[in-house]
Amino acid sequence: MLTDWIIEKNNFEGSDIEKHGSKFLLGNGFMGYRGTMEEYSAQQLVAVNLAGFFDLADGSNWRESVNAPNPLYTVVAVNGTDLNLSELTPVSHSQKLDIKNGIHTRETVFSVFGVNVTIKAERFLSMSSENIMALKYSISADNDVELTIRTGIDKNVWNISGNHLNYVSESSFDNKHILNCETVQLKNKLNIYETVIGLEDIKNDNLLHISTVKLQANTQFEFVKFGGVYHSEGIINAEESFNAAVEIGYEKLKAAHCLVWEEVWKNSDVVIEGDDEAQLALRYSIYHLCSIAPHNTDKCGIPARGLSGQVYKGAAFWDTEMFMLPFFQFTDAKAARNLLKYRVNTVEGAKRKAKEFGYEGAFFAWESQETGDDACTLFNVTDIFTNRPQRTYFKDKQIHVSGDIVFAMWDYCRTTGDYTILVDGGLDLMYECLWFYYTYSSFKPYKNRYELLDVVGPDEYHERVGNNAFTNIMVKHAADIFVQAIEVVKANYPQTFKVFNKDLTWAYDFSEKLYVPQPDDRGIIEQFDGYFGLEDVTPEVLKTRELKENEYWGGHGLASETMTLKQADVIMMLNVFRNEYSAEIKKANWQFYEPYTEHGSSLSACAYAIVAAEIGDTDWAYKYFMKTASVDLTGNTKQYLGSLYIGGTHPAANGGAWNTAIFGFAGVSFTNDVLDISPRLPKNWKKLSFKLNWKGEALTITISQNVVEIDGVKNTKVTVYGKELKKCV
Ligand code: BGC
Repeated sequence: MLTDWIIEKNNFEGSDIEKHGSKFLLGNGFMGYRGTMEEYSAQQLVAVNLAGFFDLADGSNWRESVNAPNPLYTVVAVNGTDLNLSELTPVSHSQKLDIKNGIHTRETVFSVFGVNVTIKAERFLSMSSENIMALKYSISADNDVELTIRTGIDKNVWNISGNHLNYVSESSFDNKHILNCETVQLKNKLNIYETVIGLEDIKNDNLLHISTVKLQANTQFEFVKFGGVYHSEGIINAEESFNAAVEIGYEKLKAAHCLVWEEVWKNSDVVIEGDDEAQLALRYSIYHLCSIAPHNTDKCGIPARGLSGQVYKGAAFWDTEMFMLPFFQFTDAKAARNLLKYRVNTVEGAKRKAKEFGYEGAFFAWESQETGDDACTLFNVTDIFTNRPQRTYFKDKQIHVSGDIVFAMWDYCRTTGDYTILVDGGLDLMYECLWFYYTYSSFKPYKNRYELLDVVGPDEYHERVGNNAFTNIMVKHAADIFVQAIEVVKANYPQTFKVFNKDLTWAYDFSEKLYVPQPDDRGIIEQFDGYFGLEDVTPEVLKTRELKENEYWGGHGLASETMTLKQADVIMMLNVFRNEYSAEIKKANWQFYEPYTEHGSSLSACAYAIVAAEIGDTDWAYKYFMKTASVDLTGNTKQYLGSLYIGGTHPAANGGAWNTAIFGFAGVSFTNDVLDISPRLPKNWKKLSFKLNWKGEALTITISQNVVEIDGVKNTKVTVYGKELKKCV
């Protein structure tokens, strides 16, 4: 049954454990808690994944985000038999995620020694107190039974590359356990607090509280637990913060948490009438974005797999700026600004990277962690035939990332009206990015143009190509943006501009003469120099050539010399620069590239969805919309790249779902001063309504098949299908 706000599974299959860990994920921006059972451990991929907290595991050369020990660990035993869902077949089991309130529940009935024992558990990661998590646990049985409850901190949590923590000290007093840890490489402190309320005659042993309960038939025994996770500056007031949360008590803490979610949804909900499936999938996507947003920090980006684990090393990619940022800038400008400020804060790492490869300026990390140094290795895939590390060029050639950041920063400024980021390091960042591109580019005197050679575009199957259209156009925009940003700073912040004071002759020349690939006489833009000459083969045919499952198609693999692409590339470009290409050009390219696109990345579907909507093909748009919006509901994504595990949640696709609803179906687009709405709703959608913060005005937009209503307009100039609105409600 579909409900608007509940994700549920009403039976248990062991094979779902990994998938459900991501599907039922809780997050509060500071940490994520996988959708695992309270009695699970490392083997079932339990993880309390920390945002922006990284370290090199023992004996590894793969730096990844740290998973904290689990303070909500709880297992109940009857006559020495643990009621562990991964070991006992249950009589019944249900798992639910309430996405309106960010609450995870499970109810499991186990049959042991002829008694049916029911376990109910409810937990949340506090949105009002980010270091805190809480659990309410209850047990009942249909006959008298003696239970042994073991609950405490479990150190045995999931780690992809090995152990990240040294345990410095453990203490237990007043029913409280404290585990002080230190990361193995940087010796950063991580302290875990835990307490339980409602258990009696407790024996404390090895970070566990152990208690025996004589449960009478058809009565319920209940206790609550609190966990606290602290690192960085949070350590200073950890004890105080934890005690305060415990003092507040479970129900009040939960109420405060729900109140924050209520506020979040007020700004970010998108309501679809007429399509329950799409409604749930879109809300679920929004839930993920809100639960991983850095609400209180500008020290970390959003990892490519959210806070679902250590996949992709917990690092931020271009995914944030190109796929997620629009959602934040229109619904939660503070989070958007934090994300951009994080890039400003890590620009030194980007400069180090440029230098490492012989350039100047800022070459942002392909996989960015806390310092901005690149966590991506030169050998990011393991060849499944030889088991040898395989040279990939994501790190050193996927240069578009610096331009993506410049583009996103400008987009944020234009749509929020907040240009302060420019004088908060933003203009310098833009300058450094542009200077990097200038030093990377080749000037061809006989063509009187700059070119960007030896790059990787969004389609990672074709490495080291020349003049990738997406990259060149992005860089050209970055150059134009930089020139415009200078004027803004000059006019509005003259003091800062004086300090900036740099010779920019080169920037104007670069912006004017950078080569931008144009449509040919069929209207098609070549993805990169020579693409049209590659073997004309689609992904379906390539699949038949595979020798092994999960064979990597990039590198010198199956796709490299063919026209098959991993993900939207030219179509991504048409999506980003939607105002600059006609519907005819979009149509010609969509029809041309779609058959060659594998959608081997979850970033691909939304670009195809949006452009399909723009060319009036709402059926295809809907198909790709559902693909992007339900990616973490179905779990139907690539789990391996060669032998590399890449499962988890997909926040870029989640952002892509929102982008498709707003830019594709609602048809929102904007030039500097005008917001245009040109809807093309799927046939079965009766209504689509949502909020947008546009230059400080809180707009509510409601679209039905033939009416557009806009509430909250003050100074904004709004057009519908290009015609100025006379009156807004
Ligand atoms: C995609 C990249 C993306 C990365 C992280 C890769 O598979 O090709 O475009 O940034 O995953 O999501």
